[in-house]
Amino acid sequence: MGYIMSRIKRLAVLTSGGDAPGMNACIRAIQLTASACNIEVIGFMHGFNGLLEQEYLMLHEQHVNNIIQRGGTILKSARCPALEQAGGPAKAATVLQQLNIDALIIIGGDGSFRGAMAISQHYHGQLMGVPGTIDNDVDGTDNTIGFATAIDTALDAIDKIRDTADAFERMFLIELMGRHSGYLSLAAGIAAGAEQIICPEFGPLSPDNLKHLIIPMQHAQLLSAKASYLIVVAENSYPGGTTALADDLTKASGIECRACILGHIQRGGSPVGADRILATKLGAYAVEQLLQGASLMMAGEINGQAGLYPLKKTGDRTKAIDPFLVRWQQQIGSF
Ligand code: F6P
Repeated sequence: MGYIMSRIKRLAVLTSGGDAPGMNACIRAIQLTASACNIEVIGFMHGFNGLLEQEYLMLHEQHVNNIIQRGGTILKSARCPALEQAGGPAKAATVLQQLNIDALIIIGGDGSFRGAMAISQHYHGQLMGVPGTIDNDVDGTDNTIGFATAIDTALDAIDKIRDTADAFERMFLIELMGRHSGYLSLAAGIAAGAEQIICPEFGPLSPDNLKHLIIPMQHAQLLSAKASYLIVVAENSYPGGTTALADDLTKASGIECRACILGHIQRGGSPVGADRILATKLGAYAVEQLLQGASLMMAGEINGQAGLYPLKKTGDRTKAIDPFLVRWQQQIGSF
């Protein structure tokens, strides 16, 4: 394969934080790439918890056969409060050293990468991140593994809500995930032809400043121009959540607004082709770069090119949601 000889004999991988479709495809690529270079691969279960508790398995080809198309993660995922406790990162480093692990790959989001940075204070091996989250809120990569699938999953649900909204001539508010980022909402909202999209990036919303949402709703109703009216809302955009927003809009506008929370359905399902390809590319690239000596980096993709990005900068929040689409959506939603 043309890889240089490396001192890495054994590497480990774990999936951490909110699971994302494509994590399995990434584990597969890591195992296959490492095996081709005669490197042993350990899979830690349940994120960093499996590392702290030494819950792991040796990953062989038979474990990764037939998983590229499967959602979830064969290694399970979890958040790990124990890693944030005093002594947690040092304990993790000790386990890595005891198991003779030369490098650890963390598939997850920027919170998981912060955990990796904490371990690096005590660990002498190499650490590499691969961005996997439906939120797409990681700096240093255009897309995270799972984002493309989550858009299609949300879109499928929104299109169905459109049918019933259209039949009943109703207004719906549909809440999407994203934690504190509007990436998923903007993408799915644009693709669904939503009348309005609300993202945390647009500034704080409160019961006192709903007017700019209500005027276009009333305008649409007065003109009877639209049988249905959909507002896609990113979670954490309104105090009390999207159900509270629907209630407040109903009271303030006199138009009945129904709320629909899509929830964890957005994390499931078979990864779409784009996620399988991205996961395969970044998993293989992560191993390749570890072999070249890289550490404390994330394997990401910018403009179609795989590249490294410092792990400690992945949570800086410098990546902005598409300003062109934001401007366009605000123009058409504000008449
Ligand atoms: O980070 C992925 C994500 O699905 C976010 O979109 C969401 O805010 C969060 O995880 C939900 O976490 P949990 O599954 O722990 O409720």
